[in-house]
Amino acid sequence: MDLDSLRADLENLRRGALERIAAASEPAQIDQLSVDLLGKKGELTLVLRGIGGLPAEQRPKVGAIANEVRQAIEGALAERGGELRTGALGRRLQAESVDVTTPGRPIPRGSRHPIIETMAEIAEVFGQFGFVVYESPEVEDDLTNFQMLNIPPDHPARDLWDTMYVDIPEHLLRTHTSPGQIRVMHAERPPIRALLPGRCFRYEATDASHASEFFQVEGLMVDEGTSLADLRGLLDQFAHAMFGADKRTRFRPGYYPFTEPSVAFDVECLICGGRRCPACSHTGWMTILGAGMVHPVVLQYGGIDPERYQGFAFGMGAERIANLRHGVGDLRLYLENDLRFLEQFP
Ligand code: DAH
Repeated sequence: MDLDSLRADLENLRRGALERIAAASEPAQIDQLSVDLLGKKGELTLVLRGIGGLPAEQRPKVGAIANEVRQAIEGALAERGGELRTGALGRRLQAESVDVTTPGRPIPRGSRHPIIETMAEIAEVFGQFGFVVYESPEVEDDLTNFQMLNIPPDHPARDLWDTMYVDIPEHLLRTHTSPGQIRVMHAERPPIRALLPGRCFRYEATDASHASEFFQVEGLMVDEGTSLADLRGLLDQFAHAMFGADKRTRFRPGYYPFTEPSVAFDVECLICGGRRCPACSHTGWMTILGAGMVHPVVLQYGGIDPERYQGFAFGMGAERIANLRHGVGDLRLYLENDLRFLEQFP
């Protein structure tokens, strides 16, 4: 190896390197070239291996040229690398740019189920009269669902409720929210003003007007001097708030084992206004709930002295109220979870 050929090799290396650097089109290629040309096992190192074969006095000369070549390559790498990186950044900024003037994508909002919504409205109306919402279990015992409500095991009124039993002896799925009355009486002292919305279950063949699962809203008031007139006044307010202040209402005699006297509460037909039509079975009236004065025996089961306190109670089907308010005619719609139905209740 002599000085001239080493010099020529270095020159070739420089020229070739600069050409390759100029031809690079991606920042990653610059990184690779940097390793290939200047790395520990790179091309420059390879050429400089020949330096050992030179006489000692020539080595500094070659060293100087090698340094120059290294600097030239480093400079070219830095420059081209810079160009490519700004180009790449520019392209990336372009590609990833956000058009802040584009209208946002709408976030679909859910809505409350019409039955839940109806029960919330019912609770709001009674809330204005001081009624507080309570919860009571869906799996109930026979004692609370029936016996303490004055419905003994052999009472014919049990035929009214086709009961679904559970695996626990003496337990069942509550057939109505009325057992909540007992639970509230056990938990509170009078004066009591309780509202008990909740899911109920009966063994039913499903059709437009029967479902094996449905919702009721129960009410209970217990205080000294509570009367049927108080009940009537309260229910009037309720009917006017839910169906319109101009609607006429009436009490009819009814029968429930846990109230005495018992009544059915009617509102004038919301379809014909009382002129009699098929919707009200040509009576001019629609029954919206059952109610009455709490039977003294039931107060006693609740641990309340019937000599001192009186109470009234009422119970309504949430689906019936929702049907009347929204003109829905089929209970099954509430359970199918068809969005085309549910989305109509924003
Ligand atoms: N529990 C009754 C039913 O399921 C509804 C009812 C009627 C509740 C009269 C009451 C009431 O509290 O006083 O049909």
